[in-house]
Amino acid sequence: MNETEGVTALIEIRNLVKEYKSKKGKTLGVNNVSLKINEGDIFGIVGYSGAGKSSLLRCLNLLEVPTSGDVLIDGINLTKLDRRELREARLKIGMIFQHFHLISAKTVYDNVAFALKAAGVPKNEFNEKITKLLELVGLQDRATHYPAQLSGGQKQRVGIARALANNPKVLLCDEATSALDPSTTKSILSLLKSINEQLGITIVVITHEMEVVKEICDRMAVMQDGEVVEEGDVYDIFAHPQEKLTRDFIDTVLQFQLPERLLQGREGTLVKIHFRGDSAEEALISTVLKKFDVSGNILHGKIEYINGQPLGIFIMEVTGQEEEINKALHYIEEHTESLEVIRDVA
Ligand SMILES: Nc1ncnc2c1ncn2[C@@H]1O[C@H](COP(=O)(O)OP(=O)(O)OP(=O)(O)O)[C@@H](O)[C@H]1O
Ligand SMILES: [Mg+2]
Repeated sequence: MNETEGVTALIEIRNLVKEYKSKKGKTLGVNNVSLKINEGDIFGIVGYSGAGKSSLLRCLNLLEVPTSGDVLIDGINLTKLDRRELREARLKIGMIFQHFHLISAKTVYDNVAFALKAAGVPKNEFNEKITKLLELVGLQDRATHYPAQLSGGQKQRVGIARALANNPKVLLCDEATSALDPSTTKSILSLLKSINEQLGITIVVITHEMEVVKEICDRMAVMQDGEVVEEGDVYDIFAHPQEKLTRDFIDTVLQFQLPERLLQGREGTLVKIHFRGDSAEEALISTVLKKFDVSGNILHGKIEYINGQPLGIFIMEVTGQEEEINKALHYIEEHTESLEVIRDVA
């Protein structure tokens, strides 16, 4: 979804700067970031350690006070509010953390109750609300357990139940699956996706794991040194990343390395082609071979699912006269998502 389809931005970040001052000097955690996050989207922010992801996320609910710039949520500029107004506005924003941040001396039930109490919800509504929330996250039979008696995935489910206690419009997730094993990660991601779909909550996830973005995000931004270096629709970015850093992140999940032995003794031009999974790539190849005086040989191909949409990737060797090859590649480029020459004819 994007603005041209009439979707409004629920979160708007304008020229946000977060500077940390210490004895050693100043560090720019966030350096002039502007972003719009649409209502109902799952928005992913990726970057290596120190890129500024947590700083940016914590500025979204003013856990961290921005040095300059604005954060608007649902049209309200959080940086302009007084304490009381800010407390009110924050009820619309839930947050979950890498290490869960549960109260260890309280049961699962009481951990969620704590959030309701903090928001001033009348006590007689607790039971029904908490029962519903624990059902939503699949922990209805764990209400009387203490955090120490739960697995990591279950602890994060409590964290999610607590974050949703006050019916927020936005859920912020700081490396929410980074402490979990791959299969638990998948189950938490699918819970987040269903919360997004069922409750319409806008979710912002920050992560250094591109897998998270590939699984559930609609739009994404890549951060480096406090700045956003690339931003857009997740599928489009996977199909044609612009920045080297973005490519590196994508390579970590698509793992599309050709074995050396497959390349040995090949004289032709090697190209990597991305196509929308539903396009008829075989028909395209046979058209190209008929239209141009080249031969083609598919070395490797697979289909990946990006946020549920198929993206085909294959590697082809093209041989022939240089001029014919160029025409053929040009034709392929026009009829697919993208084409990248990975090795030109020597
Ligand atoms: N409280 C702080 N005081 C001083 N510097 C800070 C503070 N918090 C963050 N920084 C600095 O700001 C920069 C961005 O840090 P941040 O924690 O936002 O990165 P990150 O992308 O979340 O990294 P990670 O993936 O390791 O969590 C880093 O250089 C960091 O050292
Ligand atoms: Mg962080």
